[in-house]
Amino acid sequence: MCGIVGYVGERDALPIILQSLKRIEYRGYDSAGIACITNNGIEVYKDKGKVDDVIEKINYLKSISSNTGMGHCRWATHGAPSKTNAHPHLDGEGGIAVVHNGIIENFQSLKEELLSLGCTFVSETDTEVIPHLINHCLKNSGDVEWELKEAVKETLSRLIGSYAIIVAAKGFDGLVAARKESPLIIGVGDRENFIASDVPAVLEQTNRVIYLDEGDLAVVKNDSVYIENGGAEVKRAERLIPWTIEDAEKGGYEHFMLKEIHEEPKAITDTLRGYLAGDEITLGIDLGIEGDTKGKSILMLACGTSYYAALCGKHIIENLAKVPVQLEFASEFNYSDFVLDGANVTVMAITQSGETADTLMALKKAKRYGCKTVAITNVVGSSATRIADETIYTGAGPEIGVAATKSFVAQLVIFYLLGLQKSLAKLPEAAFLEYLEELRRMPQIAQLVLDEANGNIQKQARYLSKYEHAFFVGRGVNLPIALEGALKLKEISYIHAEGYAAGELKHGPFALLTEDTPVVAIVTHQPFKKSLIKSATQASQNVYEKMLGNVKEIKARGAPVIAIAEEGDEEVEKYVDAVVRVPRTSAIFSPIPNTVALHLLAYWAAKERGCEIDKPRNLAKSVTVE
Ligand code: AGP
Repeated sequence: MCGIVGYVGERDALPIILQSLKRIEYRGYDSAGIACITNNGIEVYKDKGKVDDVIEKINYLKSISSNTGMGHCRWATHGAPSKTNAHPHLDGEGGIAVVHNGIIENFQSLKEELLSLGCTFVSETDTEVIPHLINHCLKNSGDVEWELKEAVKETLSRLIGSYAIIVAAKGFDGLVAARKESPLIIGVGDRENFIASDVPAVLEQTNRVIYLDEGDLAVVKNDSVYIENGGAEVKRAERLIPWTIEDAEKGGYEHFMLKEIHEEPKAITDTLRGYLAGDEITLGIDLGIEGDTKGKSILMLACGTSYYAALCGKHIIENLAKVPVQLEFASEFNYSDFVLDGANVTVMAITQSGETADTLMALKKAKRYGCKTVAITNVVGSSATRIADETIYTGAGPEIGVAATKSFVAQLVIFYLLGLQKSLAKLPEAAFLEYLEELRRMPQIAQLVLDEANGNIQKQARYLSKYEHAFFVGRGVNLPIALEGALKLKEISYIHAEGYAAGELKHGPFALLTEDTPVVAIVTHQPFKKSLIKSATQASQNVYEKMLGNVKEIKARGAPVIAIAEEGDEEVEKYVDAVVRVPRTSAIFSPIPNTVALHLLAYWAAKERGCEIDKPRNLAKSVTVE
């Protein structure tokens, strides 16, 4: 997966392209490159390395007079990160340059065909077939613009796979862009236009954005944007993006991840704001489970952190709304013979980016079953929103750090809203209103963790950072939070961390427990208010005692335990080595403070180990390949 940018206008293209690249380097950061159209043809510079380093070299080496150009930051899929594999790629004559995000699945057979026609390839990438093919499709009619557009179309018709591409050609003062299963937007300016994989790339220049649709091909010039789909011209609406560039920047924090953790209270507030007015929850969509829910169920499909949010959502919705919820990894669902009753199952795809390839594929498969489909995503106009019948947006704002943080809590908020909305017919009104009151307190609860627990969490993180293995355990609604805590720690600190159901440790992992395997145990599961105790099940009331029992078992095996426990819980102190205090909530809302605490714990442990927190090795923000 990669980031692509393009500029056509009256200003110097190179500085704008480099600035845009810096904004989307989170999409790929193993190499970068640019191509600009000049009076002499196409000038290309590319190299292996971080975007910043490559940009510095370009700034040092290049002064290019050009008003049209493109840039690319790469996350390798075909061919290792190297100068030759970096984009842009050229045809044999150097007259056509292409940047690409996606995967061309049939590139090998196309390459063989092109080799037999005399083409020479210099890289190991799948992308390089594209400029060669375009060259072969040119007709030499004299009308460069028309000819390039038609050659790109013909080329695209030969490609199997996914792509967002920008094409530049010698002699044409514009760019051709196209997308299939990879995101692409056009930033609209005044006598200038921009192309990019993502909005932050253009925000410094404009907040007027056109989202290209699946199969769109655009010819972008300084004063016009022409779009066609399936051979006919189409009009795409321009949207005003409410984010400022400050929203998309670090805002004084050392890392995006820390900034984004500190934005978790705001993400909760903004997500609630969209759907909660007074005591009324209005998600504004038909979920396919309206009215009598008998026989109806929900299937959630997601990957990574979004999967853990969905797992938590299952507990929340089943507890509050009593609607059965199933859950599958999108990547597993895609290759299993799932038995699914399309008429009675609503499929929810949970994906903060809205671009995760496995999740998009799962959504399409669910549609083939005839299911009602709902996307829960953070990105307006993302691919998931175009595939699903309905969309619920989380209000987390742009998330740049590879580790998902504020988008996770925003997803949880949607599940509280969904559960409570569906609980109306089943809960006594007083309990419903108490839940709602607690939900409204969640931004303050999250803020309290940031304000009051942060210092202690840093101390515990320093301790944790010395180890190479750790366990995170929880039960019930907090099992997914333990899984999320472990994923976050391993993702950014490279400490091997396993999330486990606390009751499962004795079925195997006990063998791994020693004084060198600290265990983070979530012990915040006490029923809280009287009316809520009545509505809570006996099972969930027992969870706290069961967790304490598990903690004692762990201690007996010699492993150090850090507990995440509520203010005022003195009992827990007797059994553990350290306690991170979080504010009291009723059991069902405890995932919110616990998540903030575990996100901070992972962050500070990674910081202590000197890791590249926003760009962990081998990972990228949106995983747009299978
Ligand atoms: C989260 O910290 C990870 N980077 C990753 O697991 C992520 O949640 C996963 O790739 C799914 O992404 P999505 O929500 O954009 O679909």
